[in-house]
Amino acid sequence: MTEQTIYKGLAGVTVDTTAVSKVNPDTNSLLYRGYPVQDLAAKCSFEQVAYLLWNGELPDEKELQAFIDFERSHRKLHDNVKAAIDLLSTTCHPMDVARTAVSVIGANHPLAQDSSPEANLEKAMALLACFPAVVAYDQRRRHGQDIIEPREDLDYSANFLWMTFGEEAAPEVVEAFNVSMILYAEHSFNASTFTGRVITSTLADLHSAVTGAIGALKGPLHGGANEAVMHTFEEIGIRKDESLEEAAARSKAWMEDALAQKKKVMGFGHRVYKNGDSRVPTMKGALDAMIKHYDRPEMLGLYNGLETAMEEAKQIKPNLDYPAGPTYHLMGFDTEMFTPLFIAARITGWTAHIMEQVADNALIRPLSAYNGPEQREVPSA
Ligand code: COA
Repeated sequence: MTEQTIYKGLAGVTVDTTAVSKVNPDTNSLLYRGYPVQDLAAKCSFEQVAYLLWNGELPDEKELQAFIDFERSHRKLHDNVKAAIDLLSTTCHPMDVARTAVSVIGANHPLAQDSSPEANLEKAMALLACFPAVVAYDQRRRHGQDIIEPREDLDYSANFLWMTFGEEAAPEVVEAFNVSMILYAEHSFNASTFTGRVITSTLADLHSAVTGAIGALKGPLHGGANEAVMHTFEEIGIRKDESLEEAAARSKAWMEDALAQKKKVMGFGHRVYKNGDSRVPTMKGALDAMIKHYDRPEMLGLYNGLETAMEEAKQIKPNLDYPAGPTYHLMGFDTEMFTPLFIAARITGWTAHIMEQVADNALIRPLSAYNGPEQREVPSA
């Protein structure tokens, strides 16, 4: 047998080109179609960034208005999507609800099997528009609350919060949510995007690819980490009356103990960034704004204690999920809803990659090195 090089986890392997985004771990930078993500987060709406990821350029006023009109008029859930959600128990994981809902949304679409650029763009826009209603409804039904219909006078982020909580969110909260959506929108060939590209490479349709990508995102080594971060905070104990310093001391001790037991602590480390995740400073800014808005200094204490202890012991930096988890918690989202929020944002990046894959397709089919038993005879009966 000839010796084959194994690239476990495809680590370090470049499998294709992409014009959607560029991750540069050396400079800790992330560009969407050439624009630094932190600048987009500071200056743009999520709607503008979605348009950019799909079309390659930021929209002019007319293009943006046309997209906004489309998005606002496609927010409602089809009755059979709502019925499919109702069939699922309120104790199942919200990622299972999200995955099922996207499957039904796909089956409903008149262009379901059409993978032309026009059809794929329309399906991507429609999915982005109605997916928030899935998350909002799922959180509400778990609390025995009725669905809240979307409002066309609110932008994407404000309407998302409206449909979830039934009240208009403060501008600071809308802004922090908008920033989180932009930061989560795209990140090159991560596991879920690659899954979506693999599925697309078989010439399967867009919703199949997104449904598969949701499966990949669920795992705690990927998107599930934002939920896992909050479980860590919950395990340490969130005590609203505690000072920043007291909370920091408790969380630092927790981390030291976890690392002594060789535990992997979610929200830290990254396959590509080894000197810090480019998105963290901007997301931490949004978290700081929420800590101030809700007057919850003890959350900052918990955050600081874990980060300091990890830095001292292993010099491993937080990734985006670390500040995102507590931010969504402060806004009032249930912990299990955090990864579905990630989906809402990443629908943009996934579908941009799906369209890129269709445009220059090659079936993705790697090789494997067999290490099972040598050929042998089946015993006679
Ligand atoms: N907590 C504790 N130790 C960690 C760690 C973490 N979150 N992340 C990495 N390490 C340690 C590993 O234990 C390993 O130590 P060792 O060499 O002493 O065995 C070393 O750092 C390298 O880790 P490895 O898992 O091989 O790196 P990777 O590049 O394959 O993994 C992740 C990257 C993201 C999978 C990994 O950092 C991780 O599991 N993080 C937690 C999950 C998470 O937050 N995911 C979201 C990513 S955006």
